[in-house]
Amino acid sequence: MPEFQTVARVGEIPEGEGRAYEVDGRMVAVFFVEGQYSAILDACSHMGASLASGHVEQGGVMCPWHAWRFCVKSGQWLDNPQSKLRQPVYAVRVVEGAIQVAPPEPPAAEAPPTTP
Ligand code: FES
Repeated sequence: MPEFQTVARVGEIPEGEGRAYEVDGRMVAVFFVEGQYSAILDACSHMGASLASGHVEQGGVMCPWHAWRFCVKSGQWLDNPQSKLRQPVYAVRVVEGAIQVAPPEPPAAEAPPTTP
């Protein structure tokens, strides 16, 4: 089970902005939007720009390179909601003023094929 790791203290991420932190060897974009923290993989699914530095508006972050927009909570690609493309989402919690992030669960192993 993934472990929560402290990345910042409450107050270090201004309202309506994101910051990037390393969690288990990958950069994670942690956002503070409308009083709530959320976290998605920092590297944009398009070409890898840092989403933490993107402009946040209406619950979405705009990638600074080519303006693709992703939901800061669900990772959904807001420009094409029908697409399966989305940023991986990290769990976030606040414990005694510490903002903590946990990596997503690894995908379950596929069940072996059954024989009739
Ligand atoms: S790298 Fe993010 S939209 Fe191109």
